Amino acid sequence: MTCSIELKNVSQSFGNNSSGSLGHKKSTSANMANKNKAATITLFKNLDLTINQGQSYAITGPSGAGKSSLLMLLSGLEKPTSGQGNFINDNQLSTLDTLRSDIGFIFQQFHLLPELTALHNVALPLKLRGDKHAISKAKHWLEKVGLSDRAGHKPSQLSGGEQQRVAIARALVFSPKFIFADEPTGNLDQHNAKEISDILFACCQENNAGLIIVTHSNAMARKAQHIYSLAGGELTKTPSIHVTEKQKVTKYLSTEEQQVASC
Ligand SMILES: Nc1ncnc2c1ncn2[C@@H]1O[C@H](COP(=O)(O)OP(=O)(O)O)[C@@H](O)[C@H]1O
Ligand SMILES: [Mg+2]
Repeated sequence: MTCSIELKNVSQSFGNNSSGSLGHKKSTSANMANKNKAATITLFKNLDLTINQGQSYAITGPSGAGKSSLLMLLSGLEKPTSGQGNFINDNQLSTLDTLRSDIGFIFQQFHLLPELTALHNVALPLKLRGDKHAISKAKHWLEKVGLSDRAGHKPSQLSGGEQQRVAIARALVFSPKFIFADEPTGNLDQHNAKEISDILFACCQENNAGLIIVTHSNAMARKAQHIYSLAGGELTKTPSIHVTEKQKVTKYLSTEEQQVASC
């Protein structure tokens, strides 16, 4: 059973006249209303996008284009100014706010709880769900991201790359259907960025989670099956140059060798 998220004809604006998250203040005079109109920021209009579980998506584009805002809409954490967001699960249609328990988030700044060890940071989402096996599952995930030996360390005792591995384990530990990652390698050096990106793609693939990444890194975007660019209010699909590990190897082989390799 595959789930999907779809945005239909969605527009997002921010300002005192809008229904965006900060658009709750009411103007009291005509003058004020004119000023507010001028201050409205329109990020995008009439945007359509469908995301499927088990597939990977990269969203690139300049700072301020609205990439983070688009993630907030896709994950159902914010509502669009207009248009419709649907979560389709086994042909059942519901609104995106029902997604909450099925999504994991990874941020550029890691956002780990400083007082908790790596193990307890990873176990937290399970404990909040009342899972009695939280600690053993968290241990398993720390192992997957290569951090078993740092389980007892607090975030301040870990490097940036290590903290992001903990954040990946925490996002995936409860097997969410979708993972949203907002510039997950933005604070890391090139070597760590590659490692984190490899771990993230591999873990999502293994868990059959849909992965939606906002990134400025071309190397990371190229790993995704679908690449979009958001700029000037337009979301454009760029031809994907995604190659699977198998294709990477077999493209150097003769036809006969490829037949043997595909067995
Ligand atoms: N809740 C909000 N209220 C008002 N303005 C916002 C809000 N969220 C984002 N913005 C504005 O929308 C624009 C796009 O922001 P963002 O989605 O963070 O872009 P990006 O992630 O592409 O850099 C920015 O100018 C930002 O200040
Ligand atoms: Mg952003």
